[in-house]
Amino acid sequence: MIPDSFVQELLSRVDIVDVVERHITLKKAGANYQACCPFHSEKTPSFTVSPSKQFYHCFGCGAHGSAIGFVMQYAGLGFVEAVEDLAGHLGLAVPQEVSTRSQEKAKQQPLTERMGQAARFYKEQLKASPKAIEYLKGRGLTGEIAARYGLGYAPDEWQGLQRVFDDYAGPALAECGLVIDSEQGRRYDRFRDRIMFPILDQRSNVIGFGGRVLGAGEPKYLNSPETVLFHKGEELYGLPQARQAIRDDDRIIVVEGYMDVVALAQYGIGNAVATLGTATTPNHVRKLLRQASQVVFCFDGDKAGRKAAWRALESSLELLADDKLVGFLFLAAEHDPDSFVRAEGAEAFRRLAALPTTLTEFLMRELKADLDLATAEGRARLVHEAKPYLAKLAAPMLRLQLTRAVAEAAALTPAEVESQCGLKPQARGRPAPPRARPHPAPNALERILLLTVLRRPERAARLPIELITQDSAEGAALLAVAEAIDQVALPAGNLGLLMEHFRGSPHADLIAGLASQAEREAEDEGEQETVFLDAIQRLHQLSLERQIDVLTSQARASTLSSEERQTLASLLARKKA
Ligand code: UTP
Ligand code: MN
Repeated sequence: MIPDSFVQELLSRVDIVDVVERHITLKKAGANYQACCPFHSEKTPSFTVSPSKQFYHCFGCGAHGSAIGFVMQYAGLGFVEAVEDLAGHLGLAVPQEVSTRSQEKAKQQPLTERMGQAARFYKEQLKASPKAIEYLKGRGLTGEIAARYGLGYAPDEWQGLQRVFDDYAGPALAECGLVIDSEQGRRYDRFRDRIMFPILDQRSNVIGFGGRVLGAGEPKYLNSPETVLFHKGEELYGLPQARQAIRDDDRIIVVEGYMDVVALAQYGIGNAVATLGTATTPNHVRKLLRQASQVVFCFDGDKAGRKAAWRALESSLELLADDKLVGFLFLAAEHDPDSFVRAEGAEAFRRLAALPTTLTEFLMRELKADLDLATAEGRARLVHEAKPYLAKLAAPMLRLQLTRAVAEAAALTPAEVESQCGLKPQARGRPAPPRARPHPAPNALERILLLTVLRRPERAARLPIELITQDSAEGAALLAVAEAIDQVALPAGNLGLLMEHFRGSPHADLIAGLASQAEREAEDEGEQETVFLDAIQRLHQLSLERQIDVLTSQARASTLSSEERQTLASLLARKKA
């Protein structure tokens, strides 16, 4: 956990305009800045950044948030990583609990530099090697794509890297996994006479390499070993290069090999990444689902490919959400994505990728395979097999759908499947929070108040706090915002900071939604003030009416004390006034 106070300090020191401009070019437009939205494709700019509110917002796709939110969304980073990224630019150290991580980062820095140096060396060597260039051309790659993926060539020498590293004998190169020490104590380059594929992390640092032999030979691909920089089970080859295409398509395609990624890019399909020959882990899936709302696994058409797909399915179940789609694309047995796109063309691949086998289809097909559903035994076995998958599936609606599909195939009712699989409907998910809402009108008013306060947080001081209740989500959020502005002393107008303060709280979505609405509807200042004052007045009036109601119904039951009768009379007089 990063302390709230640090996030606030960070956001009060960072300027969202600088942060956004690190990635895209902004144009000044009045008090704000504009650009074409990096989160959806468009020709006229609807992406705006407000320096006064420290908030970005897109009128086209609705993307919005603080500087931290921008870095998360743009670079696909998690919250902690985004905070570290921003803090790094300001030269701030992220305090306490993460300090072991930042220490680790500091240790990694010299290694990262050496990996970058090695990548540049291999790249230069490629230019100097006609046979390596010939090999890549033979696989249909242009110089442009080779450059985009930073492809290189490790020369056919035992100590080629000695030419670039003064400390060839030192510990750093070994920690990078670039050299190997023989039992005789001789040190030599790990990668020799191979085409080099640099593997980048999400910030485009080189963290590892894959090296392919130029012809036949074993092993076909040699990879960097696990190092402090490189963790195979988490990395996705080609992610930084794919980012824009992933956003344009809102879909990410996952393939098995380096060459698959590069060949697809060569054919204009830029949104592919690879899992580097390892099984897809939940860490991979978490990362993948952060990038786009659709993830399509496209593995080789052979038996190993199907097995890989099944592993990917298992890793996806517990991470799926109902607004995400995980699909599978099965190629004919003789193909991998590289050979397919070469043989059938980009359009054919796009068509397939647009209509993948869905996760539940794939799951049902595999569960039913080898079972005779015409027999009671077969149907019973189906439910038995389905049970662990149903239990693991995290998306509640999808689980309901899958339960139905299993029930249908097993000739049971969904309720029977649920009880057989121990999925009591009420045991599912978190209980919904109670949201009594006896007075719909005040809640609409509170929404207006929240909106006007978000437009000008200094208004919070003028709210009639005693009239606002926690009964509605809007009321509760309004109270929380007023308190935060008052107690945390959030600087007025910094919407980004306010939103970060509420990240993860039950009010977060409502506040973010209204903050974005406040940005969208540029309203006249005077008009806003009138709306604010009207809402407050209406709130007073409603409260008055409610008190009168209570007292009159008591009066009907003739239980009013003389004091209460007096109060009622004065309330009625006030109402008239
Ligand atoms: P493949 O054997 O399917 O290779 O391995 P490929 O991607 O089609 O390569 P080309 O087309 O023959 O050049 C898929 C992935 O498995 C890993 C690599 O990441 C490779 O891209 N692999 C494969 C290894 O790590 N080592 C190997 O020896 C083979
Ligand atoms: Mn291949």
